[in-house]
Amino acid sequence: MSKVAVVFWSGTGNTEAMADLVAQGAKTAGASVSVVQAADFDADQLEKYEAVAFGCPAMGDEELEDTEFLPMYDEVEPLLGARKVVLFGSYDWNDGEWMELWEQRAEAAGLNVVDTLIAKDYPDDEATAECLRVGALLA
Ligand SMILES: Cc1cc2nc3c(=O)[nH]c(=O)nc-3n(C[C@H](O)[C@H](O)[C@H](O)COP(=O)(O)O)c2cc1C
Repeated sequence: MSKVAVVFWSGTGNTEAMADLVAQGAKTAGASVSVVQAADFDADQLEKYEAVAFGCPAMGDEELEDTEFLPMYDEVEPLLGARKVVLFGSYDWNDGEWMELWEQRAEAAGLNVVDTLIAKDYPDDEATAECLRVGALLA
């Protein structure tokens, strides 16, 4: 059984809702899934997982949250190797530029990004279906 981690930061719950849906998609597809807050994840835990979904909303000015999420991600990104990776998160007033920048960063680091996913505010029906779909890609 494939082991998947869904690692996220969420200030007001929108990205957390996406994390739970991504996890549900992976579980339905047969994976063993752990949902972990960014502050509770680190490089040592990465060894247990074959695939990781990272969730972080647009913060700052089209940036990743820099107190808990970014320090964890900076530590873990160079160690991901060939693991399947999904990037996801919620945004509000812009058009998702933070995710484009994040995806560019991940690809420059050589990650195996199988998909990315954004949702405006709380995931609507369409975003819910997308979360379930990309979760299944990790299984
Ligand atoms: C401090 C702060 C900075 C934000 N920066 C952006 C931004 O640059 N672009 C954007 O589209 N939304 C921005 N937002 C909106 C959030 O990304 C949006 O409310 C999102 O749904 C929050 O997700 P969460 O509930 O998982 O925390 C910002 C919100 C806050 C509180």
